Amino acid sequence: MHKQKKSDEFLIRAKQLIPGGIFGHYKYAVRREGPKFFSKAKDAYFWDIDGNKYIDLICGWGPMILGYNNPIIDKAAQDQYSLGNTVSIASPVMIELAETLVDTIDIAEWALFGKNGGDSTQLAVMISRQETGRKKVLKINDGYHGANGWMQKKGSPGTIYSDNSEVLSISWNSIEEFDSIISENENEIACFISSPFHHPTSQDNVLPEKGYWEHIQKVCNSKNIILIVDDVRTGFRIDLAGSNNAYNFSPDLVCLGKAIANGYPISALVGKNYLKEAANKVYFSGTQFFNSAPMAAALATINELKKIDAISIMNNHGEVLREKMISMAKSYGFNLKVTGVPSMPYFKIESNDQQLHSRWVDACLANGIYMTSYHNHFLSAVHLEKEIDLIVNLASKAFEQVTQE
Ligand SMILES: Cc1ncc(COP(=O)(O)O)c(C=O)c1O
Repeated sequence: MHKQKKSDEFLIRAKQLIPGGIFGHYKYAVRREGPKFFSKAKDAYFWDIDGNKYIDLICGWGPMILGYNNPIIDKAAQDQYSLGNTVSIASPVMIELAETLVDTIDIAEWALFGKNGGDSTQLAVMISRQETGRKKVLKINDGYHGANGWMQKKGSPGTIYSDNSEVLSISWNSIEEFDSIISENENEIACFISSPFHHPTSQDNVLPEKGYWEHIQKVCNSKNIILIVDDVRTGFRIDLAGSNNAYNFSPDLVCLGKAIANGYPISALVGKNYLKEAANKVYFSGTQFFNSAPMAAALATINELKKIDAISIMNNHGEVLREKMISMAKSYGFNLKVTGVPSMPYFKIESNDQQLHSRWVDACLANGIYMTSYHNHFLSAVHLEKEIDLIVNLASKAFEQVTQE
């Protein structure tokens, strides 16, 4: 039975006036067997417009760390909305949020706010250039930092040569490549930007090797290169004090976005004191940057994450999910590789059959797990035992179906 009748009709309608119908990173997740438009969402679940219910392993691509329609966060936002959201002057909630971030994130001595993760990564690079007087940005191959010109792959549609002519790129975990590019570009590199572990698309996710970050920090400090951790995707899913804390190093700037306010639009850049002056000099703004309701939501989110020890909840359930998925797959004769951190698993069936993984993901979607074939997944603090068991049961059904095809 085709379960996506209305979704497919709506996609045709959308394509008539929205280029691509569904655009940006959402478009890559659109699959024939999968939902295209939602009708409602609650906790760890959403429903598509055809009435199918999904246990969601994507969490709105990261933000929904406390579940959809979390009453505590929604009330905090609503209370602030009722006082005023976009007002001609800032709300004191902005100061309270900055104070909370400085108390929470280990390296933070100041905070600035934007809307999307790409705002914080852009600002981090501008501050680095202002501070060092250098042009070049060093990043990791396939490291994603947003959609601005310099962040895109060379030659991407709509970009020009100069957008990323000052961007250098090296392999993840390679101290050799790092050292040689630094010496080839002596006194030219403003900053090194990287996620705390490597989470590219369509590849296994890779944790930092022992001693990697220690070396990077040492070299950056001695060469006056600003060390930026892009914690936009990983933020608050590894360590509330900043994901770098879990890997024992101390960056100069930390970019936050996604999970900071449980879906309300806000991102943040936090940094060390010596960069405060440069941060003050750089002009960076946006009409919506001062919305106070998302700030109230961020404040409530951080407080709630601390109160319930969300990191332990996500880690514990993520470990169980990983173990159960691997052994369940094995019972069907499949080798399911699960990489990344427990709260952000990347799944890949290892097989000579190149299509097998994709067929399994389609079957998972058809059975009611919202997931992708090419991107890490996200757990939240409302993915509890019941949800983990449901995912494993539905994924097991999907294995049963692909073995019968
Ligand atoms: C690591 C990382 N950095 C930056 C971004 C950009 O964030 P946004 O899409 O909110 O601009 C993303 C988004 O997926 C991301 O995963």
